[in-house]
Amino acid sequence: MQNFDFYNPTRIVFGKDRLQELDQLIPKNSRVLVLYGGGSVKRFGTLDKVLAGLGNRTVFEFAGIEPNPRYETLMEAVDLVRRESVDFLLAVGGGSVMDGTKFVAAAAPFEGDEESLLEHGFAGLPVEQALPLGTVATLPATGSEMNMGAVVSHKGGKWPVMSPLLYPTFSFLDPSLTFSLPTRQVANGVVDAFVHVVEQYVTYPVNAQIQDRTAEGILKTLIEVGPVTLANPEDYDARANLVWAATSALNGYIGVGVPQDWSTHMIGHELTAMFGIDHGQSLAIILPSVWKLRKEQKREKLLQYAERVWGIVDGSEEERINQAIAQTRAFFESLGVATRLDQYGVKENQVADIVEALKAHGMTELSERGDMTPEISHQVLIDAF
Ligand code: NZQ
Ligand code: ZN
Repeated sequence: MQNFDFYNPTRIVFGKDRLQELDQLIPKNSRVLVLYGGGSVKRFGTLDKVLAGLGNRTVFEFAGIEPNPRYETLMEAVDLVRRESVDFLLAVGGGSVMDGTKFVAAAAPFEGDEESLLEHGFAGLPVEQALPLGTVATLPATGSEMNMGAVVSHKGGKWPVMSPLLYPTFSFLDPSLTFSLPTRQVANGVVDAFVHVVEQYVTYPVNAQIQDRTAEGILKTLIEVGPVTLANPEDYDARANLVWAATSALNGYIGVGVPQDWSTHMIGHELTAMFGIDHGQSLAIILPSVWKLRKEQKREKLLQYAERVWGIVDGSEEERINQAIAQTRAFFESLGVATRLDQYGVKENQVADIVEALKAHGMTELSERGDMTPEISHQVLIDAF
C-alpha cells in the first residue's frame, strides 16, 4: 500500500424527511444563497422544503445552473454573492449544481482573475479561503456531495477544480428526493459510480486489501441494485443503496494508498464538451475500449475483477479478461446506456479532433502510470465504434 493522508470533513445527513435539520447546520445569522438547476427542485417540491428548513435566515436564490455547469453562468452567481454579501452557499441538485456551487465558493472571495481558477486541475487551487457550502443532493452519481472536486465547462473544455476548502460542510442524502429522476439519469448515475470505482481499482496491485474489498463491494452493490432501482424507482431500499454506493465511490475512501487511472473520465470529458454526450454515457463508451487496449498493464487487476466481481474463474487468462470486459459492457447496456460512439452520432473522421482536444487540454500522459499517449487514446476512440 502506498503512503496516504485521509481527510474528509463532510457530515452526511442520510435518510427520509430530514430537511428541517438544515436549521441546526447553518449559522442562524447567515445570509444564504440557494443554488439550483433548471427547475426540477421546484417542480418536485424540494426547494419549498429547503426554504422551510432555512427558517428566518436571509435567503437568496440562484436558478439555472445547467448540466455541465458553465463558467459564465457561475460567474453570475459570484456577482450575486458579492453584491449581497452572501456568506453561506447551499446547493440543491445533482452533480452540476453541487460542482457549480463549489466553484462559486472558491471564486467569490478570490481577488485575482477568476478564470485562472480553471487552470490548476488535479494539483488543487492556490487559494486560502472559500465560502462554506452545504448540499442537498438529488442525483446519485458524481460523489460531489462528499468530495473536494468540481468540474466546470468553459471554452470547449471541462476543467477540474479541486481544493480541500471545497468539501461540503454537510450533505443531505434523502433517497426519496431522487424518485423523480428520469430513467436516463438513474442509469447514468449507476455507470458514473461504477466507473469511479474501477478507475481507482482496475490499475495494478499494491496489496491494498481494504480498498480492493470495499471497491468490489460497491461494484457488486451497483450490479445488484442498479436494475432494481431502474425498474422500481420508488423502492426506497434499492435507491438508498444506490445513493450510498455513489457517495462511497468517490468520497476518497477507496482511493487512498492505491494507484488511480482517470483516463476514461478524461477522454469522456472531451466527448461531453464536443458532442454534448451525458457524462455517464461518455464513460460507458470509453471504459470497455480502455480495458481492451490496456489489458497488459491491467492484467492482474482485471483478473481479480473478473473473479471477485463477476465470478469468472474458467478459461485462460485472456478469456477471463475478455469475458469480464464483455460483461461490463453488457451491464451498461442492460441499464439502457449505449456503449458505442456511432450510437451517439459521432463519426470516425471526428476522432482526430477529439485527440487534438485531449492534447490541447494537456491529457497526453494518462493512466495509472502516465504512459497512455494520445496515440493510444486515438486507438481507444477508434475501438469505441
Ligand atoms: O437542472 P435540473 O432541472 O435540476 O435537472 C437535472 C439535470 O437536467 C436533473 N435532475 C437532477 N436531480 C433530479 C433531476 N430531475 C428530476 N429529479 C431529480 N431529483 O438531472 C439532470 C442532470 O443533472 P446533473 O447534475 O448534470 O447530473 P450529474 O449529477 O450526473 O452531474 C454531472 C456533472 O458532474 C460532473 C460531470 O462532469 C458533470 O458536469 N462530475 C463531477 C464529479 C465530482 N464533483 O467529483 C466527478 C464526476 O466524474 C463528474 O465529472
Ligand atoms: Zn464521473
